[in-house]
Amino acid sequence: MKCLSPSILAADFTRLGEQVAAAEQAGAQYLHFDVMDGCFVPNISFGMPVLDSLRKSTNLMLDVHLMIEEPVRYIREIADCGADIITVHAEACTDLNHAVDMIKERELLAGIALCPATPLTELAYILPRVDMVLVMTVNPGLGGQKLIPYTLDKIRDLKAMIESRGLKTDIEVDGGINLETLGQVLDAGANIIVSGSAVFEGDVEENTKRLLDMMK
Ligand code: DX5
Ligand code: ZN
Repeated sequence: MKCLSPSILAADFTRLGEQVAAAEQAGAQYLHFDVMDGCFVPNISFGMPVLDSLRKSTNLMLDVHLMIEEPVRYIREIADCGADIITVHAEACTDLNHAVDMIKERELLAGIALCPATPLTELAYILPRVDMVLVMTVNPGLGGQKLIPYTLDKIRDLKAMIESRGLKTDIEVDGGINLETLGQVLDAGANIIVSGSAVFEGDVEENTKRLLDMMK
């Protein structure tokens, strides 16, 4: 199934509830929530209190992308705030298996994110245990960047890896996805589409509908 996951990093925070409602109304299925710690990535974004408020105001699948060092420190709290999917970066975990265990114990969907230059071999043994792989199509930490072209090859290779093992793992893509690049990531095999600026800059409902139309 193809799903759109608008990234609220690009939202107008003075109108967050309203903008999320507009994306939901237009048919988005997920809501992408970027947590940054100023350590794994240079920026700091938002965390538990915002997630908690959103959980109370939306039925969208809360798709939490943890760009933080040693995310095992926060998985319990993120889960308690109502996340549906928790994605950790392979590069940020000393014990990736333990992080996946913690997410699965809470009966949530577990994702592993890889930065653009991180090879897919990181997933060799753990792939059957996860529900989703997040292929970063830009360097994590900032919205509004341009998609790095070689990540399209990586999506294709991941798709082949998943199919050759008879798995049904979702492939999420994140960074620089807009009306121009959406077709390329879909063709390469992605099915969960994160989009920040292309959703929240301008008319949220209209932007969401346009992206969803291209995903049909
Ligand atoms: C970047 C974040 C993205 C970001 C995408 O590190 O993980 O989710 O919000 O923003 P756009 O779609 O504007 O590239
Ligand atoms: Zn993200």
